[in-house]
Amino acid sequence: MAVGARLEGVTKRYLLGDGSELRAVNDVTFEFEASSLTAVVGASGSGKSTLLHLLGAIDVPDQGTITVGGETITAYGRKQLADYRARVGFVFQQFHLLPALSAVDNVAAPLVFHANARERTKRAMDMLAAVGLADRADARPEQLSGGQQQRVAIARALVVEPTLILADEPTGNLDSASAAEILELLTEVQRAFAATLIIATHDMRVAAHCDRVVEVQDGRVEAVLAGFGQ
Ligand SMILES: Nc1ncnc2c1ncn2[C@@H]1O[C@H](COP(=O)(O)OP(=O)(O)OP(=O)(O)O)[C@@H](O)[C@H]1O
Ligand SMILES: [Mg+2]
Repeated sequence: MAVGARLEGVTKRYLLGDGSELRAVNDVTFEFEASSLTAVVGASGSGKSTLLHLLGAIDVPDQGTITVGGETITAYGRKQLADYRARVGFVFQQFHLLPALSAVDNVAAPLVFHANARERTKRAMDMLAAVGLADRADARPEQLSGGQQQRVAIARALVVEPTLILADEPTGNLDSASAAEILELLTEVQRAFAATLIIATHDMRVAAHCDRVVEVQDGRVEAVLAGFGQ
């Protein structure tokens, strides 16, 4: 099985106000299989988001090696990291859409350095259609429901054709019907793109839907539950 993402001896420390040190991720060695759907669960503050940020190179570890799809990202310099980051699909709990832009322009935003304007819009429209929002392309985020905003955010994550998609509590701000739809959409996307999809979640319904559930406790991977699947 091809390796999707591998962490080896990865530690991320934060210095706290009182001078003490917190290991948000503490000496983690772990492998996420390529083209798999994994849930990361654990109490608030256990290190789920930090783990995702390290995998997406939003944050840099203090120690250890991270390899994604054969690329050792912890060996990268600034330019290579920026390039890598642009190829990762991120989905957040708070959607993080740009309020002044229409849905289609939000989706096209990651393509700013690619292709020409017409091509960018075409790719963004195709992605909006794929998430079922072709008819709301001109709407601004405030004109869309939470579930629709998250669909736009997923389309934006996908427009770069990522092999790694990191979703941090993607259903955390949604009612249960919208959450179920978003989960369904993420699952479809993972299959269609054969992407490695990692979802940090508190929602056991999301976890029960994944191939594997990884439990994080105090910055460590404490348990791996396999054999869930749909
Ligand atoms: N920039 C920072 N500075 C200091 N401490 C931080 C920083 N970011 C995170 N932490 C700490 O690192 C630990 C892990 O945080 P993280 O956000 O990864 O947890 P989480 O599992 O995602 O929690 P939640 O379920 O609430 O989202 C927490 O104790 C948090 O307070
Ligand atoms: Mg978090």
